[in-house]
Amino acid sequence: MTFKLLLLPGDGIGPEVVAQAEKTILQLNQQFSLGIELEYALVGGGAIDKTGTPLPEITLSLAKDAHAILLGAVGGPQWDTRNPNERPEKGLLQLRKSFNLFANLRPAILYAELVNASTLKPEYVTDLDLMIIRELTGGLYFGEPRGVEIKDKIKSARNTMVYDETEIERIAKVAFDIATKRGKKVCSVDKANVLEVSQLWREIVTKVHKQYPTIELSHMYVDNAAMQLIQRPKQFDVILTENVFGDILSDSAAMLTGSIGMLPSASMNDAQFGLYEPVHGSAPDIAGKDIANPIATLLSVAMMFKYSLHQPNIANMLEDAIKQVLAQGLRTKDIAKDASYVGTEEMGHAIRKVLLKFN
Ligand code: IPM
Ligand code: MG
Repeated sequence: MTFKLLLLPGDGIGPEVVAQAEKTILQLNQQFSLGIELEYALVGGGAIDKTGTPLPEITLSLAKDAHAILLGAVGGPQWDTRNPNERPEKGLLQLRKSFNLFANLRPAILYAELVNASTLKPEYVTDLDLMIIRELTGGLYFGEPRGVEIKDKIKSARNTMVYDETEIERIAKVAFDIATKRGKKVCSVDKANVLEVSQLWREIVTKVHKQYPTIELSHMYVDNAAMQLIQRPKQFDVILTENVFGDILSDSAAMLTGSIGMLPSASMNDAQFGLYEPVHGSAPDIAGKDIANPIATLLSVAMMFKYSLHQPNIANMLEDAIKQVLAQGLRTKDIAKDASYVGTEEMGHAIRKVLLKFN
């Protein structure tokens, strides 16, 4: 069987980190006869410059033919003044919506070797392993009505945070199912002291929880959750939350692990079709300098092997190889303690070299 994988390098450091993923996938493909076929397409700012739109038709149709997508990052200062509908980010949001990728999995794991890279003291983050489940196709990002209007010469703008019960139910199930295979705790994060949409969120999550008697469920307001993540991050196992809260909390959680350059993500629909991407974004300030950390993208590839290709062994090997290279002391700039660090390509190469030893 062949497995079609669509690579969308995108903008900023996207192409550099996806290049490391590409080389690694090609090597694994050969080593283990995985039958993977790679396709390439444009998305984001580069797509706007070449075709006038952030998600060209051809990209969408290749995505429909693919079993999974690996995306680098989108966005950059040259497109920042555009309105939301014509920005690079719109391409990513359309992809999420087109394929109904409502379940965004953002693990934050601190590798023992990187304890000193965290901005928090070791005792607060050693062995940290939490999973943020972010709802990805609803809430403020997509709610209607939205837009800008001028009335009596006064300009106003609006977005709508809206969820129906079916959307809450399906993401809650994902969180409980994942917690079942982990630490068996779900903390649902909302703003139910102020927002009706959060009250519905809490009501539905509580209802779905009745089907999961072995899971411990707690609720937390988002402002408190932001504080607790910094104060006592190890209390969390699975954090379940809506789109915007998840966007914000996942960046904070990422930093606990030392660098956002270490964090992968998977965005899935009901059919296990997934879009895999590093959490870090396009980082235009360091683009093209061979200093970006490719590990977030390689860990995203590992998630792809696990969730879309059903090859947990390959996923484990890749994660293992990354750990070994970190244990050897290799660091990219973002996780280095001193002035000695390796570049994007060298880090990727070292990981592939370790992988060659597996069979
Ligand atoms: C993320 C990013 C995106 C988001 C942007 C690039 C649209 O910040 O994946 O967290 O806001 O969802
Ligand atoms: Mg974000």
